[in-house]
Amino acid sequence: MTRFSFSLTATDGAARTGVISTPRGDIRTPAFMPVGTAATVKAMMPDSVRATGADILLGNTYHLMLRPGAERIARLGGLHKFMNWDRPILTDSGGFQVMSLAELRKLTEKGVTFRSHIDGSKHELTPERSMEIQKLLGSDIVMCFDECPALPADDKRVAESMRLSMRWAQRSRDAFGDRPGHALFGIMQGGVTEHLRAESAEALTVIGFDGYAVGGLAVGEGQEAMFGVLDYAPAMLPTDKPRYLMGVGKPDDIVGAVKRGIDMMDCVLPSRSGRTGQAWTRRGQVNIKNARHADDPRPLDEDCSCPTCQGYSRAYLHHVFRAQEMISGMLLTWHNLHYYQEIMQGMRDAIAQGRFADWEVDFHRQREMGDI
Ligand code: GUN
Ligand code: ZN
Repeated sequence: MTRFSFSLTATDGAARTGVISTPRGDIRTPAFMPVGTAATVKAMMPDSVRATGADILLGNTYHLMLRPGAERIARLGGLHKFMNWDRPILTDSGGFQVMSLAELRKLTEKGVTFRSHIDGSKHELTPERSMEIQKLLGSDIVMCFDECPALPADDKRVAESMRLSMRWAQRSRDAFGDRPGHALFGIMQGGVTEHLRAESAEALTVIGFDGYAVGGLAVGEGQEAMFGVLDYAPAMLPTDKPRYLMGVGKPDDIVGAVKRGIDMMDCVLPSRSGRTGQAWTRRGQVNIKNARHADDPRPLDEDCSCPTCQGYSRAYLHHVFRAQEMISGMLLTWHNLHYYQEIMQGMRDAIAQGRFADWEVDFHRQREMGDI
């Protein structure tokens, strides 16, 4: 049986490329994980998600425990079978989503109690219960249960929260146990304060994980501050394990993160913005709602090989968005996910060939030209 392993094949500056091997298939890094919160990447069939180039999806403990319930998914054969995706799935642990979505939250050393944002029902999440839920789902990459403070916050609050997350990381490790073929990732916290990030990295490394996430970023600090942290944080983590930046981001955030040594990322942006009429292309952002597209026979991006750009005009995309037709979200999501995966493939190739700096200059030059 294939165990969980990570091998680096090339580095270029701080940027890295490699492969994470799992029993459910390989994950080429740097990897972008589309978000499938409620056991679906919204508006996409699993085969279509795969066709965009995704090797792995992200699922959410918080949403699935509330609806349809982790025990129910386990009875039905696990999340992969339930949603008809047989490749790797990483699940977030729930703490972050409780803080942003749930009502009447109460945080203690033990964990967090809250009311569902769906029906007001009462629930509890602890490191132990989060590990149990992620096991019931059959997640391939399990995330530690953590707490992520909104920024800006003062150092005292950030330090206390980070230390709680480190105690929860130890409890997550103990509860996860030994599960060959499955991985447990620690999550670094510490806000934008270097010595707190160092303390967090040290605590996680002592416990020992299969991979390490940089959490607590993209929570209101801005790109400059985020890159400031990424200038030192990845190097605080073990070189031989995957590094995952949680919840990031826009195309230029992703490129800047890979440049600084990040191997994995996830974000709702390409799928969510597709449903609100936003497309991302190599020339930047395109708002398909804009009247300037109404008579435009050209595709979103003349050089894009995705089914949307191969078969549909901007005029059509504009029309179906205005008419609120379901195909609108489907076509824009497909294009956006395809574009994100194309960026990842471009970076993987450039790193392997030692030309990441040139690739990055070209990436920014095309964006500066603006939409056609
Ligand atoms: N998603 C984005 N940021 C975070 C974080 O800090 N922790 C967790 N668990 N999920 C996240
Ligand atoms: Zn396209």
